[in-house]
Amino acid sequence: QVGLIGGISLIVGTIIGSGIFISPKGVFQNAGSVGAGLLIWFACGLLSTFGALCYAELGTMIPKSGGEFPILLEAFGPIPAYLFAWTAAVILKPSSLCLLSLTFAKYALTPAYGNCDSVPELSTKFVAASLILLVVFINCFSVKLSTKVVTFFGVGKILSLVIIIIAGIVRLCQGYTENFQNSFEGPTPGIREITMAFYQGLWAFDGWNQLNYVVEELKNPYKTLPRALIASLFIVTGLYLLTNVSYFTVLSLDNLLQSPAVASSFGSVVLGFMVWIIPLSVAASVFGTCIGSCFTAGRISYAAAREGHFNQVLAMIHVQRYTPAPAVVLNVKTDFSIPYINFNTGTCIFNIILLFYKNFDYISTKIPKCCSFLQGLIALLMVIPNDFDSLVNYYSFATWAFYFATSITVLYFRYKMPDRHRPVKVPIFVPIIFSASALCLVVAPIVDNPEIQYLVAVLTMLFGLVFYFPFVHFKVK
Ligand code: ARG
Repeated sequence: QVGLIGGISLIVGTIIGSGIFISPKGVFQNAGSVGAGLLIWFACGLLSTFGALCYAELGTMIPKSGGEFPILLEAFGPIPAYLFAWTAAVILKPSSLCLLSLTFAKYALTPAYGNCDSVPELSTKFVAASLILLVVFINCFSVKLSTKVVTFFGVGKILSLVIIIIAGIVRLCQGYTENFQNSFEGPTPGIREITMAFYQGLWAFDGWNQLNYVVEELKNPYKTLPRALIASLFIVTGLYLLTNVSYFTVLSLDNLLQSPAVASSFGSVVLGFMVWIIPLSVAASVFGTCIGSCFTAGRISYAAAREGHFNQVLAMIHVQRYTPAPAVVLNVKTDFSIPYINFNTGTCIFNIILLFYKNFDYISTKIPKCCSFLQGLIALLMVIPNDFDSLVNYYSFATWAFYFATSITVLYFRYKMPDRHRPVKVPIFVPIIFSASALCLVVAPIVDNPEIQYLVAVLTMLFGLVFYFPFVHFKVK
């Protein structure tokens, strides 16, 4: 049922979240100057557009829900596809939930503490942890409720960006352009700095692949998918560039680097007594993204369940509540496919309660479920160090490894199946540039400075195989 406008709001709604309010610091710090930083923001938008174009070709050629999963499955077989679903469950979803919650906490606490610098670390962690619990609860409780929450809080995103941009335009007209003078003056960034700047910027653009998770639910997918992708990335890149320019009409580079919550610092200079509106709308925006982001987790597990990688029951929901079946509970006893249990422990607990109160009508349906207690739990652990930048690196490393794997399938399929029907066929330079950039983003930081976090990420991804071989490959019951 998703049309063009629906598709655009889905993509824009997922992309705009925490990044534009937090990442500027990481981008400009690593880029070294205002000019270089703005160029990196633009390049991130371009790279995401190229990625989205590759996904448009893949999504219309293999029109199946589940994002990267069905694509990797068809190109490289079950193991890479399984590893993707696993990585999404144990790294990607928890770390993005944690990043979003930390941003929420920083902004939500600003009004209470007046100045963000003085927000105690413990309060930030406490609020972030509470948010994670709330999100997991809402997702377990009702799909309908979460959709409503997403729509309602989506207004916050546009509101906060529009306020910042309008204020910035006014400031520009008043002649506050001093921060743009000699804008390329500064230290020259090395490979590591450039990669880190990209990781931060690309975090803000992340979510451009969302429509591929719901290909089967699109109206007229061959037209809707590419159009919605291009339109959304055009809108988001424009908004992000304008927002960054606006920040510099108020803050100098040094001010920006010192501020833990840029948009709040911006607001405190220009908005007078309305200063509270920025932290409030940012917090609302991030809250909406948190909930919305959980939907795709469900789509991945649905796609994986359909292929027999995760338990089939994952594709079932309760008829009235739209929550997954209590049959889940029975299944935990009989099937020790750990990834599957992990996906659903939260639902299980909720459904044990339901088991006693509700009837047992369950249907198998295409509406996938998305809640996960384990994801919440890992996200909670990730809150403890409260290190936004490392978490972004951890997330980006894992996610770009799979963007790379997925984008080279465009080239692979062109070579292997040249005559296959491709409703959308992108110019060949697009997948080449995108996959080369993705490869650089994954490899460059390791070559430049091999840190333990990358090893941890790789080992965590491969750890999924421990469950794959007995439970999926050899079908041990
Ligand atoms: N771009 C978003 C932000 O700036 C994060 C999106 C997380 N990714 C996702 N697939 N939900 O906060």
